[in-house]
Parts: sequence; C-alpha cells; structure tokens
Amino acid sequence: MTRQSAIGLLALTILLLSCGTETTEPDEVFPAVPAHFPPVPFPPDNPITPAKAELGRHLFYDGRLSSSGTVPCAGCHRPEASFSDAPFHVSQGVGGLQGQRNAPTLINVGYRKLLFWDGRAGSLEDQAMAAFLNPTEMNADTVAVAALLRSAEYRDRWRSAFGDTAVSMRRAMQAIATFERTIVAGNSRYDRFVRGDTAVLSAQERQGLRLFFSDRTMCASCHGGHDLTNDQFHSIGLFHHYFDAGRYTVTGQPQDEGTFKTPTLRNIAETAPYMATGDSEKGPVETLEAVVQHYNDGGTTFHNKDRRVKKLGLSDAEQAALVAFLKTLTDSSVLRDPRFARP
Ligand code: HEC
Ligand code: HEC
Repeated sequence: MTRQSAIGLLALTILLLSCGTETTEPDEVFPAVPAHFPPVPFPPDNPITPAKAELGRHLFYDGRLSSSGTVPCAGCHRPEASFSDAPFHVSQGVGGLQGQRNAPTLINVGYRKLLFWDGRAGSLEDQAMAAFLNPTEMNADTVAVAALLRSAEYRDRWRSAFGDTAVSMRRAMQAIATFERTIVAGNSRYDRFVRGDTAVLSAQERQGLRLFFSDRTMCASCHGGHDLTNDQFHSIGLFHHYFDAGRYTVTGQPQDEGTFKTPTLRNIAETAPYMATGDSEKGPVETLEAVVQHYNDGGTTFHNKDRRVKKLGLSDAEQAALVAFLKTLTDSSVLRDPRFARP
C-alpha cells in the first residue's frame, strides 16, 4: 500500500466511525441533532427544555392566540407544507387580510441569525412577538390570551415549562421559540450523501450537486453551510424596480435596496412558490425549473444585483441536473414527526 492510499484509508475510517451514530444521545443534548450539525443555539435567558418545547407546540397550533380565534402560527406554517404556507404566494391572516410576502419554512430555523426576509428580527422570541401582534397576521388581543394561558387548560404545562404560573406574553413567545428550535431536520438524501453514503444519489443528482458547488454557478457561495444559506442579504435581480425594498426598509442603506435574506433550501421542492414575494417581474415563480432558468438567464440589470448572478450558459441537461439536486434536499420525516405535529 502506498503512503497516500494508507492516509486515504485512515481518513475514510475516521469518517465512517464519526458517521456511525446519526443522532446524539437524547439525554445529552436536547433537541437531538444529526451528527453533521452543530447544537442548536439559544439565548441565555431561554434555555431549551422538553417541557418548554411541549408548551410551545401547543401554543404554536392554538388559533385562540389570534383575535379571530382561527389563525395560529401553524395556519401559515403548516407541517404538511414543510412548515411553509405553500402553495400560497402571500398568506391570509385574521379577517382574510393579506400580507406582502411569502411564508418561509421553519425547518432548522433555530440556526438562522436574523429572521424575516429583511432580517428585521434578531431572535425567534422577537419574531414570534411580531407575528403575534401584527394586525395582518394574528392581531392578538393580549388580555384574552392572558386569560387563556391562566386557564386550567394551560396551567400544568405552564408550570412544567417555567416552574411557576406567572403568565406573560414574553414567556409565551419564549415557549413558541423553543418549540421552533426543536424543528430540526437533516436526514434528506443529500444529508446521507454528506455523511458518506455516496450511492444514495443518482448520477444526474451528483452532476447537479457538482454544479451547485462549482465556481461556474456560485450557488453554494450564497447557499452554503448545512442549511444551504449564508444568512446574508443579496439581490438576485428578480426586478428592474423593487416595490418591496427588502433589507433597505430596515437599514436605510442604499446598497441594501432590493436585497433579501438568502433562504435555506431545505425541503425546497415542497415550498413553492419561491422568492420573498413569490414572484419576479415575469410573474409567479412556481417551479424549481423556473428558479434555475432565472439564474441561467442572469436576472435583470438592477443596480444592486449581486455580481455572481449572471448568464450561466447551462445546457438543458445541466439545468435539469441542478433541479434534480435541489429535490434531494427534502427530508419528509418532519411532515409527520409526532414531536412537531398538531397536538
Ligand atoms: C398570516 C400568516 C402567518 C402567521 C399567522 C404567522 N406567520 Fe410566520 N411568517 C409569515 C410570513 C408571510 C413570513 C415572512 C414575512 C417577512 O419576511 O416579512 C413569516 C416569517 C416567519 C419567520 C421567519 C423565518 C425566517 O427564516 O426568517 C418565523 C420564524 C415565523 N414566521 C414564525 C411564526 C410564528 C412563531 C408564528 C406565530 C406566533 C407565525 N410565524 C405566524 C406568515 C405568518
Ligand atoms: C448572490 C447570492 C446567491 C446566489 C449566487 C444564488 N442564490 Fe439562490 N437565492 C439568493 C437569495 C437572496 C434568494 C431570495 C431572493 C429574493 O427573494 O429576492 C434566493 C432564492 C433562491 C431559491 C428560492 C428559495 C425560496 O425559498 O423561495 C432557490 C431555489 C435558489 N435561490 C437556488 C439557487 C441556485 C440553484 C443557485 C445557483 C444557480 C443560486 N440560488 C444562486 C441568493 C443567491
């Protein structure tokens, strides 16, 4: 055996050994995460505990948190739609009021640094409070919600989560945020490939993977990391004029006009339509084929468009391979996992 192949074999052995256990021991870390993920971060004043996550799950699915009694968080983040609001472009809140943007998936949302397409919330707690109070989403009547949370229905779960029965909206949002941090998925075919099971992807899917991670397409320079996002803001040239100014509405910086947070691509095949507003100036973006076509065409000449988005000259077969790769990012176990399901 040559020196190189001996080193290669050693590396492979280490890789295989480290892939032996797919999840950490449940007693060690909560929530358990796949071996190739870091632990889920949380703010120091809101540690993740099973009791708090369980309370949060009940709150997440409870329509009575909204003024109409009918719009829970899960109304727009439905488990069967990979916690997005597919197939809707924009969502309907209380009284049928419509928002302006497409509801993103909540899969692995605990890893996101800033929340919302424009990054205006810095924590899941603040994000949940914003949705809870937003007049076009839940428009909460906090007096009525406080009464519900003090009722016999919630009392025991509340005490298990917080140690006492002092009710506050902040605590309710902490519980919901904790539940969201437990929605971790990392067992798509792509994940199995990353963990060393290379035979799990077809030749076409592997071609798509190589293109996705190539300097030619630059996809992974923005959609990198274990959730296929850099958590930064870019314009990909969907419009010549952005009516929704995106990140600019938060920072007021001209270079942020028309930029939006790079979305995770987890379960992307399940969450059409795509993009922050569900459309481009050519109309609704309904399919992954249309997304890849957009990148292949290179987008508009919008002044803030990122330079990496430019004509790619991909053949039909290469575009199809990219789409095939994007479809390997689906982990459908989250759709029916009892830990995340409607109570
Ligand atoms: C009426 C529909 C609706 C309801 C109800 C709703 N959301 Fe959302 N959610 C959205 C939309 C639309 C966005 C994107 C808005 C934006 O970026 O400006 C969003 C964004 C989010 C995000 C940001 C994800 C990311 O990656 O940036 C999180 C987290 C979230 N919602 C959680 C919740 C929680 C928790 C609740 C309940 C307290 C809730 N949502 C209620 C529609 C809804
Ligand atoms: C310059 C950074 C950047 C590059 C390069 C890039 N993307 Fe994106 N991607 C984004 C951003 C930002 C959005 C959201 C844009 C918006 O809504 O305005 C997005 C949206 C998407 C979406 C829709 C996601 C959703 O949930 O709606 C898909 C799919 C996607 N990109 C795939 C790709 C592929 C495939 C490539 C390579 C051909 C690529 N991206 C290259 C930053 C990038």
